[in-house]
Amino acid sequence: EKGGYEYFMLKEIVEQPRAVADTLLGRVGVEGTLTLDEMRLSAHDLRDISKIVIIACGTSYHAGLIAKYSIEHWCRIPCEVEVASEFRYRDPILDRQTLVIAISQSGESMDTLMAVRYAREQRARVLAICNVNGSTIPRESDGVLYTHAGPEVGVAATKTFLTQLIACYLVGLYLAQVRNQKFGDEINAVIEQLAKMPEQVQQVLDTVEPVRTLARSLKDAKTVLFLGRHVGYPVAMEGALKLKELAYMHAEAFAAGELKHGSIALIEDGVPVVIVVPSREGRGVLHDKILSNIQEIRARGARTIVIAEKGDDAVRPFADELIEIPAVPTLLQPLVSTVPMQVFACELALAKGNDVDQPRNLAKSVTVE
Ligand code: F6R
Repeated sequence: EKGGYEYFMLKEIVEQPRAVADTLLGRVGVEGTLTLDEMRLSAHDLRDISKIVIIACGTSYHAGLIAKYSIEHWCRIPCEVEVASEFRYRDPILDRQTLVIAISQSGESMDTLMAVRYAREQRARVLAICNVNGSTIPRESDGVLYTHAGPEVGVAATKTFLTQLIACYLVGLYLAQVRNQKFGDEINAVIEQLAKMPEQVQQVLDTVEPVRTLARSLKDAKTVLFLGRHVGYPVAMEGALKLKELAYMHAEAFAAGELKHGSIALIEDGVPVVIVVPSREGRGVLHDKILSNIQEIRARGARTIVIAEKGDDAVRPFADELIEIPAVPTLLQPLVSTVPMQVFACELALAKGNDVDQPRNLAKSVTVE
């Protein structure tokens, strides 16, 4: 049931703190040790891994892109991310020491399933991250880590995306632990920080109302561009995808540093550009770099919609609109920076009179290749 909301999507957006908490529940022990018993891959198996390949489609692919940053940083294992529909057609290099992580909310996406089958034929180990118990992809994988988002009815992925991120963080932390990486203190700090994330996501929801007003004001825009750096780049991609699928509008995401290599020519007077600003903590360089990217586009007439952490006063002079999110470590920032993008796309689509639960031409699970 819609629980008093007009659309499932609205309900699923507000359920996110709970979904995040449920996905963490029972997986982090008192001493900060992680237990992922449904993994069915031994610590021994995981110690041998020399490469990780993440395969997924759509929003799940964006979760994979974000996961790469923390997995490589915490585990020091090379990690590639690829859309499932491209994967097996390029003769990828896989072996017994490759861990393939297949991310799929439904567990039924045919592109991802075919990639999983291919990977297993090549003797790679496959771990599924999935939201639907007993679905095909986890059944055909060596191990599974379920996201506990609960059923998602709206076609656009929202709460399942946040819980996929949690699952990816857990896998990364777990791998770092079993492989005894030298980041012990940092790993423990992240585990502590993860426990606070439901509350931080709730804070975003509590302060998101101005985003709705802003979204309605952009209902007639021809395009919206999204910029990010580091983990903010895949978040920008997710923001653009949400807008396309729900509002049927042109939207495109760029790595902020790449803009000057061509796409900046798109910037003209009044073009709305949503920018995700990295946390200042530990990533000061990135933060400064994006400030100059914002200045560049603003000087060319862009209307800048800046998502930045609370208290980041340096961005204020360049933000036509400022959306504040809680200050969290950069690697975890996607959990809070994605939420205003979801609300933005949903509200804009509603302003256009679209059905946000059943966008045109789309199905909840895509069972053809
Ligand atoms: C976007 C969306 C799709 C799915 C994609 C993969 O909001 O929902 O892009 O993310 O079709 O689906 P799953 O995760 O079920 O494999």
